Amino acid sequence: MISSGAPNSVRAELVEAPLFSSREAPDKKDGPSTSSGRTGVGNGGEHGARHVAIIMDGNGRWAKRHHLPRAMGHKRGVEAVRRLVRGLGPLGIDCLTLYAFSSENWKRPEEEIADLMGLMRAFIRSDLPEFISNGVKLKIIGDYKVLDTDIVEMLEDALRRTENGTKTIAVALNYGSQQEIARAAARAAEQGEVTVEAIAANLDTADLPPLDLLIRTSGEVRLSNFLLWQAAYAEMWFTEVLWPDFTVAHLEEALASFAQRERRYGGR
Ligand code: FPP
Repeated sequence: MISSGAPNSVRAELVEAPLFSSREAPDKKDGPSTSSGRTGVGNGGEHGARHVAIIMDGNGRWAKRHHLPRAMGHKRGVEAVRRLVRGLGPLGIDCLTLYAFSSENWKRPEEEIADLMGLMRAFIRSDLPEFISNGVKLKIIGDYKVLDTDIVEMLEDALRRTENGTKTIAVALNYGSQQEIARAAARAAEQGEVTVEAIAANLDTADLPPLDLLIRTSGEVRLSNFLLWQAAYAEMWFTEVLWPDFTVAHLEEALASFAQRERRYGGR
């Protein structure tokens, strides 16, 4: 059994307490946001982005900055996820893909992995009913079946119960883009032809809209094995904001920047 290195009080808060004690209005803490019209992108997708993906980075640095254990940074990171999911409605995005656990994250200390898995369990338990009532469809990308059996069962139950949702939240779990491409190429070969189209049709994201915008928080400017194929013609937006501080207003800012971009896909 993996035990957490977090102090007992933090451990109790992580595992025993609900992630949110109240169902507050979306982005109460963020000040004016989605419905503010401040960026001009919060009213139904005139920015044109259907699929946005985020590398949620900086939980550890956020915790350090606040003199808190890393586990608290991840917990605040989950709260940022929740804020975003709750605020997504008016933004006009069809799909939000979140990099929650990479195939390389297994290199982290066992306690941290256990904390992240505990947060995942708590998140599914506490937020699934809200997903369902808000028409959110859950999708998992990555080789999630190697996770603990109870998590796999919870995820598969959540996938079934949200299958009629109209807005997709795709969560990348045990995800590595190179591995995904290799799997897709192998499947394409089995099916008889290794073409761009055949590989794309076998990616974990095959049923999602093309990726429009890729965001990374915390000031790092790299892809870290995330959606390498899908990002071929995606626009990029990087911000110094650490993930736990990321709000719907930041997403609006990214969408406003996206709306200004001229996408030529290699043409002119
Ligand atoms: C990177 O921060 C973040 C992660 C490796 C985990 C991201 C996961 C979450 C925000 C939780 C997601 C949960 C759900 C339910 C979708 P880091 O630890 O690498 O930060 P650092 O670079 O500052 O150390």
